[in-house]
Amino acid sequence: MHEQFLLFGATGDLAAGQVFPALANLLRDRLLPANFRVHAVAKHPFETQEAFRDWLLERVHARAGDAVDMDALHELLQRTDYTSVDLSKPEALGAALKLEPGARLLSYLAVPPDLFVPIAQGLKAAGLLEDPARLLLEKPIGRDLASARAINAAIAACVPESRVFRLDHYLGKATVQNLLALRFGNTLLEAVWSRRWIERVDILVAETAGVDGREQYYSRYGALRDMVQNHMLQLLCLVAMEPPSALDADTVRDQKLMVLRALRPFSAQSAPDESVRGVYQAGVVGAQAVGGFSQIEGQSVETFVALRAHIDNWRWAGVPFNLVTGKRLATRSTQIVVTFKPVSHWLFEKPRRSQAAPNRLLVRLQPEENIELHLMSSLAGPEWGAMELQSLPLNLSMAPTRRRRIAYERLFLDALNGRHALFVRDDEVEAAWQWIDSIADAWRVADFAPQPYVAGSWGPRTAAPFLPPPMARAAAASPRASA
Ligand code: BG6
Repeated sequence: MHEQFLLFGATGDLAAGQVFPALANLLRDRLLPANFRVHAVAKHPFETQEAFRDWLLERVHARAGDAVDMDALHELLQRTDYTSVDLSKPEALGAALKLEPGARLLSYLAVPPDLFVPIAQGLKAAGLLEDPARLLLEKPIGRDLASARAINAAIAACVPESRVFRLDHYLGKATVQNLLALRFGNTLLEAVWSRRWIERVDILVAETAGVDGREQYYSRYGALRDMVQNHMLQLLCLVAMEPPSALDADTVRDQKLMVLRALRPFSAQSAPDESVRGVYQAGVVGAQAVGGFSQIEGQSVETFVALRAHIDNWRWAGVPFNLVTGKRLATRSTQIVVTFKPVSHWLFEKPRRSQAAPNRLLVRLQPEENIELHLMSSLAGPEWGAMELQSLPLNLSMAPTRRRRIAYERLFLDALNGRHALFVRDDEVEAAWQWIDSIADAWRVADFAPQPYVAGSWGPRTAAPFLPPPMARAAAASPRASA
């Protein structure tokens, strides 16, 4: 296991909100090597090591609250040193860092993607990417296919793919891994996992939080590039991929790649029917008044996107995959809903066939993590005379653990141990961008601008058919935004 963790972007939101809390939790659980050390790097010049530690403690506390063990965080900070580096001068990296080449070092680039290549080149020049060093890249890898290819090629010139780890924190969520267990560990589910039995698949990532504080980045990316290209397509791949013959990294990643390559590209003709873009206006979220999104510069981006994706292969022909994500929506809810087709012949009086709820597999990732299978079941007691069916949830979740792990915990352990299965390969990233580019191009050609929606609603009303049924009903009744 590698024992040195070199963190670029140490003063960013991600470091305080996820990286340090995750490492502190791993340290508390004694899952890190005894000589584990963090070398934190960012531009800001702190006067002393103590000044950095004090500043970070306060930030972590404000951002992560109860999700972090403060005693363990104190211990982690005793193992952390800070270096201020001007990342626009990567040639100065080696001298600034004073690390030994050949060390068991994991360098984690939690910085914007335009810094990946200069940092990797600086590390290489300093000998810090020599075997066995590893490189961990935060999402997004580029902003489109061309920039992703350029990044992947430049990174490949510095370090082989076998030592590169591209992080998508959704792959570290426990329920996502449980989805694989359910799909491939059970005859029952695998037998019905196709167009023959499945009517539609919904993938929803609804957030109540706004873009606050990240306008600079978000104004260049929007929801399509920030959420769909990575997290949502990874979920879609895990739902739709063919059963791999083994669970090793490349076998699984080959199957995910096949799904990405089978996604039907969007066109300017199809985009108006198959997608909705929205941008939030002022409104009320959770009883609090909030402002609208302020675009910093350039073309206006979406804070909400709904897409109907089609996977053109034998298993999924004709099954819509509805992908919806947005900021400042009515509730925080991340879920995958697999809706099965109705039974072929309905025997019961109550409810009527048209009122019968279809079988559903509901995989919830936020706010709680659980999996439910909704099946029709009889409510009848002997005194009722008639049989009445009702949809009942069967809880398939694991026994509750002592505490919920931060997704980054699992991913850091895997990267430190050199396990690739939960990381994204270069060709997967590029295939995902290729599909995303088709959507962005279609929107541009069709002049398809984001429609306003009121913060605290379910997005533009036109998005209702893309949402899972309970949200769709709420969306249809949501207040209309002013144009
Ligand atoms: C990040 C996006 O990758 O994922 C954010 O950049 C988003 O915009 C976040 O809020 C959502 O992650 P989670 O785990 O809270 O659903």
